[in-house]
Amino acid sequence: LIITIDGPAGSGKSTVARKIAKKLGIIHLNSGALFRAIGLKAKRTGVELDDEGAVARLAAATEFEFVLSPIDEKVGSRDTCLLVDGKDIDEQLGSAEASMLASRIAVQSKLRDVLLRVQRELSLKHSLVVEGRDAGTVVFPNAEFKFYLDADIRVRAERRFAEQQDALDVDAVQAELEARDHRDATREIAPQVAADDATVIDTSELGIDEVVEELCGRIKVASL
Ligand code: DC
Repeated sequence: LIITIDGPAGSGKSTVARKIAKKLGIIHLNSGALFRAIGLKAKRTGVELDDEGAVARLAAATEFEFVLSPIDEKVGSRDTCLLVDGKDIDEQLGSAEASMLASRIAVQSKLRDVLLRVQRELSLKHSLVVEGRDAGTVVFPNAEFKFYLDADIRVRAERRFAEQQDALDVDAVQAELEARDHRDATREIAPQVAADDATVIDTSELGIDEVVEELCGRIKVASL
């Protein structure tokens, strides 16, 4: 089973994807985290961000492991933990710096090929809830369920501001989101766009649980 959830930053896709994966007891594949991890690793190891070959080689030499936590008996669900080269670097991945680095290198086709392979290999062994920009269009065009979440830019900026520790103010976050949206949506390879067969949901006025319910309802109805 593959469920894809694409959409821009702040559309709610991460939280929704995590919750749905948890409900179904399957792996949450946050593809943005792969780009973020490589962006941070490139910076840390001194790899030139514009050197496509070097960035792709760095990604190919990186080990990504997706580990389902043991069942939490109280709630009866499991979380997915991403290990990068054996380490849980979740906290660093959420920074504004990581998202900017990720967006910069996400235009590179060699890197995208490597990360596409990582995602498809994972799908050979596991059911997945995949979130990203191109999950339903490029990585898993045959996914059973495809969703595209979107929301008003101001609402998205406010959501991001609330969760980013290193953000300065909401206007700065909005400006950064606009720049990132532009780059992600206009790039030649795998741009941020809804698949023709994706269900598009505007989450501007919806709470997370409402979005989760809406998606789960559609998944259930379709599988009856
Ligand atoms: O979803 P996110 O904010 O973690 O993504 C970080 C950046 O990585 C974003 O600017 C776009 C890029 N990205 C991408 O190009 N393709 C993906 N499947 C996921 C993320």
